[in-house]
Amino acid sequence: MNDFKPGLDGVIATDTNVSYLDVDNEEIVIRGYDLIELAGSKTYPEVAYLVINGNLPNTKELNSFQKLLLDDSAFPSETYDLLNLIPKSSMVMDVIRTGISYLAGFHSEQNLMDTSENQNLNKGTRLIAEVAILTANSHRILNGQKIIKPDSSKTFSENFISMILGKSVSQKQVEIFDKILTCYIEHEMPNSTFAARVIASTLSDMYGAFVGGISSLKGPLHGGANEAAIHMILDIKEKGGSKIAERYILDKLKNKERIMGFGHRVYMKKYDPRALFLKDYISDLESNIENGEELHNIYKIVENVMAREKGLYPNTDYPIALLFYMLGIPIPLYTPIFFASRTAGLVAHVIEQHNNNRLFRPRVLYTGPRGLKL
Ligand code: CMC
Repeated sequence: MNDFKPGLDGVIATDTNVSYLDVDNEEIVIRGYDLIELAGSKTYPEVAYLVINGNLPNTKELNSFQKLLLDDSAFPSETYDLLNLIPKSSMVMDVIRTGISYLAGFHSEQNLMDTSENQNLNKGTRLIAEVAILTANSHRILNGQKIIKPDSSKTFSENFISMILGKSVSQKQVEIFDKILTCYIEHEMPNSTFAARVIASTLSDMYGAFVGGISSLKGPLHGGANEAAIHMILDIKEKGGSKIAERYILDKLKNKERIMGFGHRVYMKKYDPRALFLKDYISDLESNIENGEELHNIYKIVENVMAREKGLYPNTDYPIALLFYMLGIPIPLYTPIFFASRTAGLVAHVIEQHNNNRLFRPRVLYTGPRGLKL
């Protein structure tokens, strides 16, 4: 048992042809392509199609895929009756998680438990659409606002952000939102993907794997970091702004607190390529909000202090937190939007797990007592 690795650090858990973090070459490989190149020139639905099917779509394939992503004809309106019963103090992630569980019941047992690739592709595509609808409307339900239906005349990203904000947005905003979704889409073997694959490895269903995945992604060491990061930037602003930003971070580090949006198990002391790509868009949105420039300054000071003091760099959640804020997105939706984007990655991994399954069942390093007598 001397191969024990706490947190499975560096352990290869499975083989995959979905994605790979090539840290040495600073590349996030997605089905053979560089994610940053994809985010620079392709839209979220194109990359989602690539992630789940293994190839980029032609125009016809893209059109029919986009249609499915905006199709709510199979979305049962009773879902909202159930979600309305959830305490209004709940977190959006928990409302979505409940919604996913409920939606599983709209498949027959035979269909739900069918793990064939074709069935998984159908369920997975439907889930990407369902989670986006749930994301926008869960927040509306918690805030007593009217439910919104998807508008199939819009692109996926334009519709998604319009449903979230309850109004139409500029093309520039749609473009940046789409790039954020694309950057979040798939990232090798984070905790949520692993959780989903572990569940799928019992030959449990796609919906069950998603419920596990969303529960994992909610945590502040994972997807929850984007909300924690903006709360920190706003707290610095509240307490004195860029003048006190350096002191604020030094104090936190002295108290051994973590700075959310920094560090990464795989990148460790290297810059997350997604964060490097997305940070340039902050200037484009700075004038969208009051104090945009000041928040950007705080952002830069925190980044510099973290590099100097800890040799740690932003992960993708750090720039996205500020970009979401500048896009006017309500903070409780930051982590849910991350999950909504990641659905494509989860679908691909559940399909791959089911297609070539081996049950995950590790061992332990037992540290408890032995030989106790009754
Ligand atoms: N702030 C301050 N110190 C940190 C941070 C941070 N954000 N991240 C790592 N460290 C320090 C940590 O205190 C430890 O120092 P020491 O060796 O002196 O005790 C050292 O770096 C190693 O930390 P670790 O927790 O053993 O490393 P890990 O690989 O388990 O951590 C991590 C990875 C993401 C949990 C961690 O970097 C962290 O807590 N970051 C903040 C949360 C965050 O931003 N999460 C988003 C991750 S990326 C997007 C996603 O997947 O959602």
